[in-house]
Amino acid sequence: MTTITVNGKVDKLTGVPEDTPLLWVLRDRLGLTGTKYGCGISQCGACTVHVDGEAVQSCVTTVGEIDGSEVVTIEGLSDDGSHPVQKAWKKHNVPQCGYCQVGQIMMAAALLQSNTDPTDDVIDSEMWNICRCGTYPRIRAAIKTAAKEVQSK
Ligand code: FES
Ligand code: FES
Repeated sequence: MTTITVNGKVDKLTGVPEDTPLLWVLRDRLGLTGTKYGCGISQCGACTVHVDGEAVQSCVTTVGEIDGSEVVTIEGLSDDGSHPVQKAWKKHNVPQCGYCQVGQIMMAAALLQSNTDPTDDVIDSEMWNICRCGTYPRIRAAIKTAAKEVQSK
């Protein structure tokens, strides 16, 4: 049986086949619908969550692969929207339709964990998530703002 911890709560995935994508466990079993389905083939980034601190595409990650791991979704990134990336997203009014934005935020949060001063080139290469609304300039600006807050801590 697979056991994962999601946003600090241990979940024994009784009755869930090991090859079930994490995305469907999050959305359908745990009701954590912030994480979105876009492509299902690791091409858009809409389903990005953190597994043991790394950005992972939950559409192509089976629960069996991450047995014993810690998962963080947008619902667990902060209690009150106070994560530096969330604050910067609000300040820059980043979302348009919003569909891709949870994945963008989770990817940006993971990026800043490993690099607190990303250059434009690093942002462009690491933030490969697709936004059909073209919010890329605001995403880049918000990451710069969030980086400043992270650096000041
Ligand atoms: S839905 Fe997972 S990368 Fe697109
Ligand atoms: S805000 Fe609409 S797809 Fe990104």
